[in-house]
Amino acid sequence: GKVAVLYGGTSAERDVSIKSGTAVHQALISVGVDAHLFDTQQISPLKLKELGFERVFNALHGRGGEDGVIQGVLEYLQIPYAGSRVLGSALSMDKILTKQVWQSAGLPTAKFVMVKREQVAGVDYQAILERLNGKVFIKPAKEGSSIGMSMADTAVGLKSALEKAADYDCDILVEQFINGPEYTVAILAQESLPSISMQTPHEFYDYEAKYLANSTQYFCPSGLNEADEAHIQALAKQAFAAVSAEGWGRVDVMRDQDGQFYLLEANTVPGMTEKSLVPMAAKAKGIDFAELVCRILDSAK
Ligand code: DAL
Ligand code: MG
Repeated sequence: GKVAVLYGGTSAERDVSIKSGTAVHQALISVGVDAHLFDTQQISPLKLKELGFERVFNALHGRGGEDGVIQGVLEYLQIPYAGSRVLGSALSMDKILTKQVWQSAGLPTAKFVMVKREQVAGVDYQAILERLNGKVFIKPAKEGSSIGMSMADTAVGLKSALEKAADYDCDILVEQFINGPEYTVAILAQESLPSISMQTPHEFYDYEAKYLANSTQYFCPSGLNEADEAHIQALAKQAFAAVSAEGWGRVDVMRDQDGQFYLLEANTVPGMTEKSLVPMAAKAKGIDFAELVCRILDSAK
């Protein structure tokens, strides 16, 4: 039957989603699936049923597409889709709620403070810095691709970083800076794939490092020893399940200088261009891009 590849949409990650959706669509066409690109900014997803779509591959990143909203629509329309349901999507979209769930499950995540948009002008910047060991990441709670994110180690820097994040979200996460390499673990059929490590000459793995620079290096296998690899894979799997995320996705992790892993966030619709990280991890397991896309689509329920 007809498959809709949902892409584009209205979030700040629209451009990334267009790339993911286009790659997924091409892969499905290449194996003979009757797939059609469907931009939710142009056509209402409420029309999916009457347009005859029987299954959905969701390649929407960010708000409206990765946060439970489109998942709720698909539930209502009773159209099978792969990946996380409403709750897992909504929890994973919110980095603050995600960290609270992980903390209560005893999973490791860096210390943090949450700031509401209306508190930005009045909080004690210096006190926050001191509480979080002097250097912090500032992130809108519900964005992806590092949009609206900064690093700060002074009160002045923290103030302007909070103002910037407040342009994107009413909830802002201020997180202790972990001075280590970043890793990511792809999840497929609820299981972890081999971890990937990222190295960027940028101060952190920002939007530019993710999508524009050629200077970011990726390693898969990541170079962790066997015990650490087993550890990070188990951690990612537990972290994914703890936020009720399902099926496929990606868990981002940092490792500090003393070797300890800290969970950053879960992505329930991670980037799916041929150069993206989930496809890279799948390739390390002998699963090529078209097969990966088919496996994900076949898990639709
Ligand atoms: N939010 C981007 C698409 C990712 O996690 O890959
Ligand atoms: Mg994300």
